[in-house]
Amino acid sequence: MADTGLYLNYQGLLMPRLTHSEESLKYLEKFTFKDDDIFAVTYPKSGTTWMQEILPPLLNGGDLNAVQTIPNWDRVPWLEETRAPLVLDKIPSPRAIVSHMPYHLMPQTFFNSKAKVIYVTRNPKDVLVSSFHFHKMASFLDDPGTFEEFTDRFLAGNVIFGKWTDHVKCWRNLDLGDRILYITYEEMLQDLRGVLEQILTFLGRQLSGDALDRVVDHCTFKNMKTNTMSNYSLVPEGIMDCNKSSFLRKGVAGDWKNYFSPELDIKFTAAIQEEMKGSNIKFPWDEE
Ligand code: A3P
Repeated sequence: MADTGLYLNYQGLLMPRLTHSEESLKYLEKFTFKDDDIFAVTYPKSGTTWMQEILPPLLNGGDLNAVQTIPNWDRVPWLEETRAPLVLDKIPSPRAIVSHMPYHLMPQTFFNSKAKVIYVTRNPKDVLVSSFHFHKMASFLDDPGTFEEFTDRFLAGNVIFGKWTDHVKCWRNLDLGDRILYITYEEMLQDLRGVLEQILTFLGRQLSGDALDRVVDHCTFKNMKTNTMSNYSLVPEGIMDCNKSSFLRKGVAGDWKNYFSPELDIKFTAAIQEEMKGSNIKFPWDEE
């Protein structure tokens, strides 16, 4: 890794120092979950920002005020990040929270609570491409090198939050029963309304057809891209340089095909399959 000074190592996981600190990780360890907390878990670049847009209006009868006036990092904070201790205790319930933490590093009160989890998975090939560009535009992440070099790092888990396969596997086959809902980024792209209905049912909530239509429209890539509360344009250019790559970059499935050579595809697919062996987890993109 080019510059380990950019990252802290928490229990074997690399995290950007700009957004994570000893204090925020202590706050995470001691965090008290409430039974009505809604917790969206993702491996980075799998649709976290999308969930930060979707959850507030679903929890507030379709009201778009929060997503139009509060930056995503304060509206639906990351449990492990530096903003959490500053804002999480002040957010009215039901709170929506996001996290990249693996299951085994969740605070004890999570396991004793009834808080619900939505786990979002995205095709790891597109996660890799998205992450590659994110590393180029974010000064708090190191230079990714060539795409091939970054692929090797990704497969070895030498990236923030470790191996994609470890993350996906650790949130499966748990005792959480109906406390967890699994969705994919690709399903959201294909049928956002259908996924939002699924989430509403999971949360035991309802919205009128009109309100749901408004939320769906607000949460499209096109509209999120112009929402200054969600497109990271409020972040200084020295931290995130949108001239190098937008945070809301392409928002599609299958962009990996523009980056993977046939050889790299074979190598990547084999490495992921090997790691997923015996897990019985199937994804729509496995057949591609
Ligand atoms: P791309 O870089 O492929 O465009 P995260 O929020 O977990 O960091 O993930 C970021 C990725 O989600 C980016 O992918 C971003 O464009 C995409 N994304 C965010 N909101 C989206 C939306 N409404 N529709 C489609 N993709 C979205």
